[in-house]
Amino acid sequence: MFDLELFIAECQAALSTSDPQQVVERLVRKAMTDVEGLKKTLGVGDGALFQPLFRSSELTVANMCAAPGSTSPVHNHCMWGVIAVYQGQEDNFLYKRSGDELEKVETRSLKTGDIWAMPVDLIHAINNPKDHYNAALHIYGGDLVERPGRSLWNPESDLEEDYDIRQVLAYTEQLSQ
Ligand SMILES: [Fe+2]
Repeated sequence: MFDLELFIAECQAALSTSDPQQVVERLVRKAMTDVEGLKKTLGVGDGALFQPLFRSSELTVANMCAAPGSTSPVHNHCMWGVIAVYQGQEDNFLYKRSGDELEKVETRSLKTGDIWAMPVDLIHAINNPKDHYNAALHIYGGDLVERPGRSLWNPESDLEEDYDIRQVLAYTEQLSQ
């Protein structure tokens, strides 16, 4: 059965290795051999999009659950991440900078069981295309809430703004109506 406390401890230990993301990806792969255990332990939780399970300046472990049709604004992370979808589907729209603008370069659909090691320079927006909640385990190599220097893009003006997780959640609500 998936043991959240042990998982967090192992992720913390991974930080002192030479390649924390790779070690965390291996831990996630092990956790995903027990999808039912993940569902039982985490499930959709309180239904909130972002449910932090552990936060420090070097590590975030979170359960993320998006409502049907939920769409996030475009944002970056400026840190490595590993996502594992254990329920439903999460579509990722990937962007790159092109001068002052963003260019959409790829769509990556993550289905139940998929694991994705996200690069440090990732810029993306996410959408739940299905008619039921999705659920995913997210691990990041930093504090996803407080890390300075990150950006989000205003969905109406497309202008780059300083990242603020409350604003991400507010835009997500607007975009998902
Ligand atoms: Fe993200």
